[in-house]
Amino acid sequence: MPELVGLYATLGEKAKALFPGWTLAMFTGNPDLGHRLGLRAHKQYALKNGPLDAKLLLMEIGADTAYKTSAQSADNHAASTSNDTLAQAAEDAPQQASSDNAQMFANRLKKNQKRLKKWLKQSGESCYRLYDADMPEFALAIDIYADRVHVQEYMPPRSVNPAQAQKRLFDALEVLPHTLEVDASRIYVKQRERQAGKSQYQKRDASGERFEVQEGPARLWVNLRDYLDTGLFLDHRPVRRLLGEMAQGKRFLNLFCYTASATVHAALGGASDSVSVDMSNTYLSWAQDNFALNGLDPSRHRVIRDDCFKWLETASTQFDLIFMDPPTFSNSKKMRDTLDIQRDHPQLVRLAMARLMPEGTLVFSNNQRRFELDSTLCEEFTVEDISAKTFDPDFQRRQNLHHVFLLRHKEAA
Ligand SMILES: C[S@@+](CC[C@H](N)C(=O)[O-])C[C@H]1O[C@@H](n2cnc3c(N)ncnc32)[C@H](O)[C@@H]1O
Repeated sequence: MPELVGLYATLGEKAKALFPGWTLAMFTGNPDLGHRLGLRAHKQYALKNGPLDAKLLLMEIGADTAYKTSAQSADNHAASTSNDTLAQAAEDAPQQASSDNAQMFANRLKKNQKRLKKWLKQSGESCYRLYDADMPEFALAIDIYADRVHVQEYMPPRSVNPAQAQKRLFDALEVLPHTLEVDASRIYVKQRERQAGKSQYQKRDASGERFEVQEGPARLWVNLRDYLDTGLFLDHRPVRRLLGEMAQGKRFLNLFCYTASATVHAALGGASDSVSVDMSNTYLSWAQDNFALNGLDPSRHRVIRDDCFKWLETASTQFDLIFMDPPTFSNSKKMRDTLDIQRDHPQLVRLAMARLMPEGTLVFSNNQRRFELDSTLCEEFTVEDISAKTFDPDFQRRQNLHHVFLLRHKEAA
């Protein structure tokens, strides 16, 4: 999509610069992008392209647009209106912000890049959040994964006109390649809806287009195209770092492990062995690929496909370090019941604590914004809320994005 936004803007600019007085007829499967041409359609015909809905748009290119284009561009460039400038202006136009708002958005991205620069240099991290709805009218989360960009559009509230929201998205996508110096083909755009249960984990595409990123000592596979999530939740980076630091010589259990990025950190931190449990075959095979990428021995680092509730009820092994980061809500058919983290966490925590060695630690986290830990757990166990220490500079703006607790047996404290 970012490629198309830029393409339509370029087409409009070229048409205005080179064909004043002509009529432009465009047959398109993306009529919404027609606005990016900067030309008004005086006629539209709804047609089909095979099974696809399409439109034929007819647009008059005013006789004076060549002059207007050069004048506008000259304004932007504070330069002359010579013919050379005109050609150059048409060349540059899509890279410029199409509105003042878009320019402000581009400026904010630059400001954030500047703010994070020192930390990125020191930490060496290549995957980070650059922007998180800092400007309410651009309700996007923008994450950098090495040399690629992952853009998630938050669902606009009902009060926002959908056409306006779409224009804002296109404005943002138009300035992104130039501002971040990334080719448009490396920008991946998704709409982040409030997910009901399993749809969050369902496939959107089947490109299999994955690539390797580095996070601290860990090498991890990431896929920005095929699923809503990427394989690596960036907000939990400090928690993975902590697990790596705590893991030396420990038996490690990772519940709801997803792609087991946390297990990789624990193993590289010296965990003697590990078990990672998830009910998705897709993510467990991704986890095993992550293990292979880091040269982990599969006989010491095992994955188990099961419903974590069921597995915990029958498991008998004890672990020194447990990480449990369940989803906020889940209703997959593979589970015997739904999971609602606020409702179910006391049971889950007790089940996990039953698997914990007397001197061990459970790291329990979740992404329920308004989460409150059940007070009876604090009576039974020693509990430390470390949430405030688990946000790197790229997530400082969203201090309620996740909650993290350390739990220990009382007698050990
Ligand atoms: C939010 S992710 C967990 C993130 C992960 N802990 C991490 O550090 O990246 C949710 C994962 O939980 C898994 N899941 C959901 N319900 C489950 C259940 N009842 N038992 C096992 N896995 C479950 C999903 O398959 C998915 O991989």
